Amino acid sequence: MKEQIEKMKTKALDAINKAENEKQLEEVRVTYLGKKGELTAILRGMGALSPEERPVVGSQVNVVRDTLESKIKEKEEQFKQEELNRKLKEETIDITLPATKVKRGSKHPMNRIIEEVEDLFVSMGYDVVDGPELETDEYCFERLNLPKGHPARDMQDSFYVTTEYLLRTQTSAVQARVMMKNEEKTPIRVICPGKVYRRDDDATHSHQFGQVEGLVIDKNISLADLKGTLEVFVKKMLGENSVLRFRPSYFPFTEPSYEVDVSCFKCGGKGCNLCKQTGWIEILGSGMVHPNVLKMNGYDPEKYTGFAFGTGLDRLAMFKYGITDIRLLYQNDIRFLKQFDRMD
Ligand code: DAH
Repeated sequence: MKEQIEKMKTKALDAINKAENEKQLEEVRVTYLGKKGELTAILRGMGALSPEERPVVGSQVNVVRDTLESKIKEKEEQFKQEELNRKLKEETIDITLPATKVKRGSKHPMNRIIEEVEDLFVSMGYDVVDGPELETDEYCFERLNLPKGHPARDMQDSFYVTTEYLLRTQTSAVQARVMMKNEEKTPIRVICPGKVYRRDDDATHSHQFGQVEGLVIDKNISLADLKGTLEVFVKKMLGENSVLRFRPSYFPFTEPSYEVDVSCFKCGGKGCNLCKQTGWIEILGSGMVHPNVLKMNGYDPEKYTGFAFGTGLDRLAMFKYGITDIRLLYQNDIRFLKQFDRMD
């Protein structure tokens, strides 16, 4: 009996060794250790043994079963390891290979400018507001102290859609909208970037361009507030060394009105082709909100004062990024736009 068990053990170990995969190994396990396996059969046959022999054979069988089980386990581990190694080898990725480039768009310089202006003014407590591009004559002109037939309307040749509706010529229209919408007539601090349209078709003007409008209304707002605000704005956008010059001007919705020039950032003020030898570049219109405008839009000019300003975003982008041809801003040539990715 003992010998028979030993023989079976040798045979089983041999079969385990020879198993080439998990399936074969499982077959071996079933053959020797399964319910109908050889070892189980021996155990069943133990009834025929003498009481002295039984424990001896029993413990021998147990030892053999343990040995076989642990061998099978070992072999199983070996198969698993081999499989893993094979997978690792097959699925290796060469991380030194150049990656396939995904073509990405890039932020348009106009959007960059708008975001920068918005961030700056939001940091100073302003709200960013919006208004319609298809505007009424009332909001674009009348509520800004420009009644029908006013000569200053000539400054802005307009695209009329009907006699009452036009494509807005200036973001100033939003000034009136914000004042009218504010029913409690509380203080206002807003900027409004957006598109405007004019019937210009010469080489230096586009029929559509971007502007940003600013409006502040509160008690005791003075010219000093306007100057301080514009100084921060221009220095942030065009460089800390910029010098500002306020030139008296005329706009129907502000009194007094100023055009603001900035020292030429190309020549530093000495005079060059960019500033037409003057050393200055005009960048925005501004002034103290005209009492008529306050009144017409529901604010008491005895109680409130305010300032406003408006500037062209295209020009700002051109100055800031050294773009010499305005058309580049509208052609959307990816090679041109890509250059600005490095400027963040
Ligand atoms: N809206 C004017 C324009 O398009 C610019 C402007 C001038 C805006 C003076 C203002 C301002 O808010 O106060 O030319």
